[in-house]
Amino acid sequence: MAKRREVKLSQKISAQPRLHQRAGEIQAYGTVNHLLPLELEEPVRLEMTEQLNQLLADTMTLRDLYKKSHWQVAGPTFYQLHLLFDKHYGEQVELVDSIAERIQLLGGVSIAMAADVAEATQIERPPRGREEVPVQLSRLLDAHQVIVGESRKLARLASTLGDDGTNDLVVGEVLRTNELQVWFLSEHLVEVPLVRAKKTSAAADVA
Ligand SMILES: [Fe+2]
Repeated sequence: MAKRREVKLSQKISAQPRLHQRAGEIQAYGTVNHLLPLELEEPVRLEMTEQLNQLLADTMTLRDLYKKSHWQVAGPTFYQLHLLFDKHYGEQVELVDSIAERIQLLGGVSIAMAADVAEATQIERPPRGREEVPVQLSRLLDAHQVIVGESRKLARLASTLGDDGTNDLVVGEVLRTNELQVWFLSEHLVEVPLVRAKKTSAAADVA
């Protein structure tokens, strides 16, 4: 009788939030749902989600490297780089979401938290402190190079395995965005005079 009353009390609607809840995972990382009406076999989705998670971890790292650079940049080009780094950061944020949602769509589990990303990424870890502009730019370009390289491989693999959606995402969004950002960064590492043109011997003769 007392038990029945207890059950009734627990079923009563209450305004009290049920806090501090924990339970087992509903899907383990590294697995895919078995049955999805996507016309893509489970082994293909498993391979694609594994590769996409690597791309995601590296893209999240590059995203954060951009914010670090945005905050810590110094010197005469502070203002333009401060703005450029934040623009690229915003574009990487969008890529992160597209990649993560592609993984979920394929029945997988997206890597998400910083500690897990730090373990998975192939991008070299920078120091916590500030670095000079040429070093910031070089680090960003090295990170882009990792992502561009794995994007090309992944796009080809996706195409071979018949996952056209992943191929389209990787080529049309990830690769194209990274290529453009590489150009914008690289041009800042070209050594050209700021005020006085360097005279060639021919120009010196005319003068
Ligand atoms: Fe800011």
